[in-house]
Amino acid sequence: MDRREAMLRELNLYPTWVRREPVAHETIAQSSRQEVSVEALNTAVVGDNTPVTDSLIPVRQDVAPDVVSRGDESGSGAAASPDLFAGQEDAQALDDRQSETGEDSLREFQRQNAGGALGRVDWPELKQKVHDCELCNLRAGCTQTVFGVGDEQADWMFIGEAPGAEEDALGEPFVGHAGRLLDNMLLAIKLKRRETYIANVIKCRPPEDRHPHVGEIATCLPFLRRQIDLVKPRVIVALGKTAASALLGTDATIASLRGTVHDYQGIPLIVTFHPAYLLRSPLEKAKAWQDLCLAVDTMQGALSGVPSGTN
Ligand code: URA
Repeated sequence: MDRREAMLRELNLYPTWVRREPVAHETIAQSSRQEVSVEALNTAVVGDNTPVTDSLIPVRQDVAPDVVSRGDESGSGAAASPDLFAGQEDAQALDDRQSETGEDSLREFQRQNAGGALGRVDWPELKQKVHDCELCNLRAGCTQTVFGVGDEQADWMFIGEAPGAEEDALGEPFVGHAGRLLDNMLLAIKLKRRETYIANVIKCRPPEDRHPHVGEIATCLPFLRRQIDLVKPRVIVALGKTAASALLGTDATIASLRGTVHDYQGIPLIVTFHPAYLLRSPLEKAKAWQDLCLAVDTMQGALSGVPSGTN
């Protein structure tokens, strides 16, 4: 089994990616999404293990017609995954925020950034500021800050929630189990990790890998915003509810956010499941694949100068 097949199997996609008859490459290259008929989709069967194609778009069409529709709210997994998707801020969280962030330092930070202080810092200074940050209590409990990794001029930016144990130990985002799945998700759309920029909303590992509190997110978010400003990605993929909520300023469910191209400061933003959730709910990988296909479409639109409509 080669690496690509292994990756497809991991995404639960392999059997739907093969046809009984090999397909001529030119035919696939010429196909547009509109040209692929339902009949063609229906011919995708488990057959002789001949991959349909290396090309993303026809492969995506063979995944399953029923997962291509946008705005699908059914079976999103959001309701079924309370452990991943943080709940709404409640009175207790607000109380925690007061005690955990240190109101004075938070207020000072917000005051400094109200005029766009981070809006001018360059990469080295931003890295230093994150490294030195002690604005909330998370820093005291983690080994090191986890800034971000990858091509600082990448077209693609993937944003997660917060470092876990392995990220905390190595100082790099998404290097644990979830990171390995993320690497495979990237491979599925023919991206290498180093060709993207990967960061988290929160730069310090929360204790016992709990979800970050609202105050911690508010404190840390300016760093991520500045990273995005500096990278200037063409497409952002928000991995999970924390990233989606923080960047879009909404508490909407993943289910309602998936399937739509959102707008973050003029940059198209796609929402998908967090890889850690997909590890626990592997049947949802097909939906994540659908989201990645939307992201690829969006990137193609952005590169061709024909942006897809955003919300
Ligand atoms: N989960 C995240 O959201 N980020 C990481 O870096 C690792 C796991």
